[in-house]
Amino acid sequence: MAFDFLQVPEQEAVWVQATAIQQQMVALLQKLDVPADHSRVTAEILTFVSLHGVDTHGAGNILNYCAAIEDGFYTIPQRLEIVSESETTALLDGGNGLGFVSAHRAMELSIEKARRYGVGTVTVRNGHHVGMAGYYAMMAGTQDMLGFAMTNAVPVAHPLHGSQARLGTNPIAFAAPAGQERPFLLDMATTTVANGKISLARRLGVPIPAGWAVDAEGNPITDPPAARSDSWTMTPLGNSHELGGHKGYGLAVMVDILCGVLSGGGFGAQLQTGDNMTWTMAVDIARFRPVAEFKAQMDEMIRSLHATPAQPGHKGVQVAGDPEFDAADIRREKGIPFQPAQYEAIVAGVQRLGVERLI
Ligand SMILES: NC(=O)c1ccc[n+]([C@@H]2O[C@H](COP(=O)([O-])OP(=O)(O)OC[C@H]3O[C@@H](n4cnc5c(N)ncnc54)[C@H](O)[C@@H]3O)[C@@H](O)[C@H]2O)c1
Repeated sequence: MAFDFLQVPEQEAVWVQATAIQQQMVALLQKLDVPADHSRVTAEILTFVSLHGVDTHGAGNILNYCAAIEDGFYTIPQRLEIVSESETTALLDGGNGLGFVSAHRAMELSIEKARRYGVGTVTVRNGHHVGMAGYYAMMAGTQDMLGFAMTNAVPVAHPLHGSQARLGTNPIAFAAPAGQERPFLLDMATTTVANGKISLARRLGVPIPAGWAVDAEGNPITDPPAARSDSWTMTPLGNSHELGGHKGYGLAVMVDILCGVLSGGGFGAQLQTGDNMTWTMAVDIARFRPVAEFKAQMDEMIRSLHATPAQPGHKGVQVAGDPEFDAADIRREKGIPFQPAQYEAIVAGVQRLGVERLI
């Protein structure tokens, strides 16, 4: 989590060990007839996300996914289907089920293809929410490969100078392994922040910085809105033209093309809330140069960035992934912090569904 003001205060949080919440999520999903392997993958991903401090997209959201299953918005059990395929490409139909399962399979396939042919890329249609795009990029990053993952979503952001939402927060994730240093993991919404940060600010009762969102006239708003509506939109990364908003806007459209148009699953304005069409790619580093040499040079680059003298008032320079790996170092020991209301809601969900309480 990049911003201190969006942390659940430590003394208020309920701390739960990762293994306990992971098992609890498996039990909840299985109770709702999600097959064992799909429950396991989903719970593993949500736990990884929470461990890495991305609280907006982690285990705290489990009841939303349970509700989508119970409401019949998700098709369970889902059937994944390869619609078309070549040595290096595939179009995967996610079967309108859990997005975690289809995005995970897409990256697995990308990695298999990259191992055989050097590069593999798979795009998913009929997919739902995948959470943290960086998880899927890291699946390749831990296999001596470069990993890319992107996903599009229902519109909440305006195209530069537009007064209505046409674009999702459409994240881009890229992972590259290093040797002794931690991997480079860039995982970023193409809006100024992920929408989840606005919802989190609302739950925590704190204002959002001017520039994250605007009203229909383009004036900044600082009171975090409760839900998507026509009265406000999020800003493309960069916000104004002067600060590069045209580039964030362009990147968001690129994500829509790779995820929504290439797959046929639909671009932002054609999606429903909770939809995520996802594009993944894995690139085998060994096809370019010996992996050890690549990693040694990655180490050099990361050390050179970390060694940059800090500006006054700043502790130092980080590289992408540092905040998430730092959070994981702490949370593996201490557990995952939940807002009390969120924790109690999960416990109530466990009781309502008659599942054994494990947290
Ligand atoms: N599934 C979806 O529909 C969806 C949509 C949008 C975002 N998301 C997810 O939301 C999460 C949060 O997105 P975000 O854009 O708010 O992320 P963020 O602003 O918290 O971080 C973006 C990136 O910047 C890096 N970073 C943070 N501080 C840094 C610093 N001081 N120096 C260098 N690098 C730094 C982080 O490691 C990360 O790679 C991501 O995991 C993203 O995939 C999901």
